[in-house]
Amino acid sequence: GLPPRVTIWEVGARDGLQNEQAVVPVEVKLEFLARLAAAGLTTLEATSFVHPRWVPQLADAEELLAGLEPVEGVRYPVLVPNERGLDRALAAGVRHIAVFGSATETFAKRNLNRTLDEQYAMFEPVVTRARAEGLDVRAYVSMCFGDPWEGPVPAAQVAAVGARLVSMGCSELSLGDTIGVATPGQVAAVVGEVAAAGVPLGSVAVHFHDTYGQALSNTLAALRLGITTVDSSAGGLGGCPYAESATGNLATEDLVWMLDGLGVQTGVDLDALADTSAWMAERLGRPSPSRVVQALRG
Ligand code: HMG
Ligand code: MG
Repeated sequence: GLPPRVTIWEVGARDGLQNEQAVVPVEVKLEFLARLAAAGLTTLEATSFVHPRWVPQLADAEELLAGLEPVEGVRYPVLVPNERGLDRALAAGVRHIAVFGSATETFAKRNLNRTLDEQYAMFEPVVTRARAEGLDVRAYVSMCFGDPWEGPVPAAQVAAVGARLVSMGCSELSLGDTIGVATPGQVAAVVGEVAAAGVPLGSVAVHFHDTYGQALSNTLAALRLGITTVDSSAGGLGGCPYAESATGNLATEDLVWMLDGLGVQTGVDLDALADTSAWMAERLGRPSPSRVVQALRG
């Protein structure tokens, strides 16, 4: 069966904009977030407190949060890799963070400049301090289905990394197909291993990039397995600057079109959302890759 309701974790302002060649002005980001909230999205991943040299597109994180007018009932999580990032996030008044680990050694090195063991050592004090401050903490695991340098990633390896991050005190786990290579059978295998490792599926999210056009099929497979939180980005913006061949996330419009058709509640106004993505596409100077945005606004 399918859940009656799905929580959409909107990553466009972070995963989307981190991968744009152009640095989007902070006023445009703020208007983007305001429009996403007005379209009914209630979780808006806003930015990252990472090293500005690593992700220059999000170097305005402090300015963004200072200008943000939070909407009642909307949460604005941010990415935090280390204690320096946590200090910055706390100073900016953030209440919800996400650490982001890798399932593979190669990507841990490329994305975090750390080995797998060092990534845990980096996250541990972040998660402990954040929880003590009363923050919610999500943990991402990247390269859950395949890695451009290491190839296929064993499901048991993904589950071990995920379970370790949950045991640190993270309250949610997001399984990332960073390069968009997964197919639905693999989703079942990985989600099965994660559940077998003791992580309740009610606290697991899926995060699919759409490189091979499989993101929606993979999402449906995950929903049938009991997952109720799905990451997506408005208009299909996105990718990861440190992963070869990573293109945009599952487009939120594509997801909402499918869920509307299935009678699964999301609280999102598809029309307002498609308007927002068409508006953002103009700002970025190129059309949205989302098929649904193209069909509705093309
Ligand atoms: P490092 O070079 O090893 O950093 O980078 P360090 O700890 O050695 O520190 C070096 C200097 O950086 C120090 O300054 C620190 O203070 C400073 P110095 O003393 O030399 O003047 N520094 C910072 N400054 C500001 N904010 C910080 C910070 N940390 C250190 N937070 C580091 C390690 C983790 C910082 C770096 O690798 C980094 O920033 N990586 C971020 C990469 C990133 O954001 N990738 C994209 C997000 S992940 C993703 O997209 C995947 C996802 O969508 C899921 C999926 O699709 O699978 C989540
Ligand atoms: Mg991603």
